[in-house]
Amino acid sequence: MRRRVLIGNWKMHKTAGEASRYIRDFLPLTQNIASIDIILAPPFTALHVVAESIKDTAIGLAGQNMHWNSHGAFTGEVSPAMLCDNGCQSVIIGHSERRQTFHEDDNTINRKVKAAIAHHLTAIMCVGETREERDTGKTSDVLSRQLAAGLAGIGTIDAKQLIIAYEPIWAIGSGTPATPTQASKVHIKLREHLGTLFTTSTAESIQIIYGGSITAENIQSLLAMPHVDGGLVGGACLDPHNFGTIVSSATN
Ligand code: PGA
Repeated sequence: MRRRVLIGNWKMHKTAGEASRYIRDFLPLTQNIASIDIILAPPFTALHVVAESIKDTAIGLAGQNMHWNSHGAFTGEVSPAMLCDNGCQSVIIGHSERRQTFHEDDNTINRKVKAAIAHHLTAIMCVGETREERDTGKTSDVLSRQLAAGLAGIGTIDAKQLIIAYEPIWAIGSGTPATPTQASKVHIKLREHLGTLFTTSTAESIQIIYGGSITAENIQSLLAMPHVDGGLVGGACLDPHNFGTIVSSATN
């Protein structure tokens, strides 16, 4: 049975002080929740303060990105070891904002996934189609390409360090989420494809989560779909009370 996971992606929001106040408000709302995994993905500059504030809890910590090299002359980049050193157990890779705004391609994403696994970080690899790709019937091809290329060279043994996030680009920040049926159809296809890359039982064990305009109102219907194993939440996680409500709705 796959455990469910909710990931709060803060994107480029919150100073260290704001992060610390967030955790102070968020912890009491989630302290009795054990049936779902919660992961927070603050910006790099708030990782340390969040790691300290959640160290006695079950909440996990993720980076939002990283370089694939362990060190070197890469101005502005952060290495996998630096994420581990700051308390991360996982890292978001290939978010569409990285793909689109920072021109990350499938090859870059594959290097990052491999580097994350080599550093014992869970790679939360994002895939997703644009509105135009969906409207022209290309969703399946686009997602298959992103999945196969992003996971090239990853062995079955390492697949336990993967979470796949289906994030349709048209749904991110738009207020228009995929319907549960739309998400479910894609998740089933992704799992079938994972079964060709790994074994069927491995594919069954990989969490496939949905992201894009998740709210406290729609989380339950999305999670009611058997192949939707959780959510990657952006805007709606920025307020600790709101994210707390999403977490408790997800467990009801
Ligand atoms: P959103 O973002 O919840 O604000 O749509 C989701 C994401 O980008 O991960």
